Amino acid sequence: RIPNVLLNNGIEIPNLGLGTWQAEPGEVENAVKIAIDLGYRHLDCAMVYGNENEIGNAIREKIDDGTVRRKDLFVVTKLWNTFHELEKVVPACEESLKNFGLDYLDMYLMHWPVAQKVFGDITSNLPFKNAVGIDYDYLDTWRGLEECQRLGLTRSVGVSNFNSKQLDRLLLACSIKPVMNQIEVHPNLNQKKLIKFCRDRDVAVTAYSPFGSPSRPWAKPDDPVLSLDDPKLIAIGEKYGKSPAQIVLRYIVELGAIPIPKSTNEKRIYANSSIFDFELSPDDLEVLDSFNCDGRAVPALELKGCPHYPFEGVEF
Ligand code: A2P
Repeated sequence: RIPNVLLNNGIEIPNLGLGTWQAEPGEVENAVKIAIDLGYRHLDCAMVYGNENEIGNAIREKIDDGTVRRKDLFVVTKLWNTFHELEKVVPACEESLKNFGLDYLDMYLMHWPVAQKVFGDITSNLPFKNAVGIDYDYLDTWRGLEECQRLGLTRSVGVSNFNSKQLDRLLLACSIKPVMNQIEVHPNLNQKKLIKFCRDRDVAVTAYSPFGSPSRPWAKPDDPVLSLDDPKLIAIGEKYGKSPAQIVLRYIVELGAIPIPKSTNEKRIYANSSIFDFELSPDDLEVLDSFNCDGRAVPALELKGCPHYPFEGVEF
C-alpha cells in the first residue's frame, strides 16, 4: 500500500505517483490502467506531454469498471508556459479537464516560473516548440491558478521548477498558499537544501525524473549519468532484497520528496511502488548521498536566458 502525505491545506496526496512524461500515446493508456489496478492513485500529468486525453480514457475506464472512485484518485496536471497571462489560465485548466474528460483536478501546478509566447499556428504544435520567453510575472499567473481553485476546477494549486527565491516571493504575495513545489530530485541532484527550504515553509516536494531521466532526448555524452547498474546501488539493494531502482526511489522518499517514476512496463510499474516495506540504514543513506554531483538532467536549456529562468543566479 502506498501511504499518503498531508498537504498544507489538509488534503492528502499519495507518497508515490505514476509519471507520464515521455509515456507515448498508445502506451500510456495501458500503463495508467495497470498502475491503477496495482494500487497507484496519484497520476502526474501535464498538458505539454500531449497525452492527457489517453490518460483520461484510462481513468474513466477504471472508474466505470468499479476499480476506483474518482475521489480516491489524485490527478495532477500542469499549466504550460504559453498560458501564463492571467486571462489564459482558467481556459487552459478547462482545456486540460476537457482533455481528461474530468470535472476537477486534485492539483494544478504552474509547470515553470517562465512565461512564453507562441508564434505561428498554436493549435497544432503542442508541445509548442515555436515559443519565445516573455517578461510576464509568475505572481500574476498565480492569481489565475488561485481562480481555478476558487472555481472548483482543482482542489489544490502549486508550482514546479521554482527556486528558493521565487518560492519565497510567491509565498509573500499569494492569497492561496501553494501546496507543492515539483522539482528534479535523484541521487545525482539530491536537492537537500531546496527540499528543506520548502518543507520549512510547509510546501511539499514532488521529485520528478527520479532515475535522472535516462531517456531524455537532449543528454550529452559527458553529462553525469545515474546508472541503475551502479555496483554501489546493486550492493545496497542486495541487503534489502530490492533492485537499484527501488533503492533510488526509497532514498527519495527518505529525502522527504514524493517520487513520480515514469514507466509503461507492468513489472517496473509494480516494482516501483514496492518501496514502503523497508528503510535505508544511515550508512546506506551516506553512500547514496555521495552520488550528489549537481547532475541536473532537465536544465530546460531552451528556457535559459528567458525572464525568471530558475536555475541561474541563485544557490538553490
Ligand atoms: P520504462 O517505461 O520502459 O519502464 P525518469 O522517471 O527518471 O524520467 O525515468 C524514466 C525511465 O526509467 C524510463 O525510461 C523507464 O522506462 C525507466 N524505468 C522506470 N522504472 C524502472 C525500473 N524499475 N528499472 C529500470 N528502469 C526503469
